[in-house]
Amino acid sequence: MFETTHFPGAKKYWYNGRLVDWNRAELHVMTHALHYGTSVFEGIRAYLTDRGPAVFRLSEHIDRLFHSAEVMRMEVPYSKKEIVDTVLELMRVNELKSAYIRPLLFYSYGNLGLVPHSAPVELVIGCWEWGAYLGEEAKQKGVHVLLLPWRRFHRSQIDLSAKLGGVYVQSKITAEFARRQGFNEGIMLNLEGRIAEGPGENIFIVKEGVVKTNPGSESILEGITRSSVLEIARDAGYPTEVGPISVEEFISADEAFFTGTAAEITPITRVTDGSNPNTSREDWKHYTIGDGVPGGICRHLATLYSKTVRGQLPQFEHWLSYVYRSREEAQAVLGSFSAAS
Ligand SMILES: Cc1ncc(COP(=O)(O)O)c(C=O)c1O
Repeated sequence: MFETTHFPGAKKYWYNGRLVDWNRAELHVMTHALHYGTSVFEGIRAYLTDRGPAVFRLSEHIDRLFHSAEVMRMEVPYSKKEIVDTVLELMRVNELKSAYIRPLLFYSYGNLGLVPHSAPVELVIGCWEWGAYLGEEAKQKGVHVLLLPWRRFHRSQIDLSAKLGGVYVQSKITAEFARRQGFNEGIMLNLEGRIAEGPGENIFIVKEGVVKTNPGSESILEGITRSSVLEIARDAGYPTEVGPISVEEFISADEAFFTGTAAEITPITRVTDGSNPNTSREDWKHYTIGDGVPGGICRHLATLYSKTVRGQLPQFEHWLSYVYRSREEAQAVLGSFSAAS
């Protein structure tokens, strides 16, 4: 049995075509992916709308899952449609109003040579309620970030357009380092010395009204939230730019914020530059972004994003996959609800 106060869990997860009780374990400890990180995954969210829960940009996430599998040279034993349908079914089985959804494809039990010729590819999908990744207060008040002393893996070393399990050891180590040093989150520079990304978030800045983010060529994962926010910003009439962001540009921005499925839109209000690995903590320099409070454009985009994912902006409704066929059907299972923004 698996019980922890830190994992809310759900009723069931889905594993290889079956629904399994959440607290039940199914895997062998010699599973290939456990040893070598040979997995690919997605992080998806579902939000409550007036028509019941809806999954945000589900097909784009499943497309990226297949892209990640291709980068891993992994054959997926399911079709995209089967996975999409399973995600929606699992939301219904667990009777969730909102959720974080995690599909994971991995090499399972078979052999432990680096080439998993006898280890089959298996799929597990879980979903559970998960609040703001960096905390609700972070979303409201903004976060203090550390520019980390490690450089993001370079895109010439590994394909960062894929979400490969093993690559996330860098995210784990850097995110933990930043928190242990007293910061809310870290940001990695790339090998060129410019801003790359957070351990699980993309970066935006605002300067003189222009909303800017960096491209995949800067050794980042081009997140689905990032592309949504770019579209939402353009739709709202803000000029946007995609280009490299230097440390100086970042520090002197009027506004800055993280985007990500987990982090949603989280303002960055303070920065400490610890990016030179040869300086000690006493020599780190501290900066305030803009006025040190979440900026107006960031707050506006966060409101628009929140409305988008909750089905309140018709121009973006095509990004939603409703879990139930109608509000009535959703109400019959979930009881009465209202979609707060
Ligand atoms: C390294 C990294 N960058 C950026 C993101 C943001 O991507 P998305 O908006 O698709 O969640 C994530 C989260 O998946 C991530 O892991």
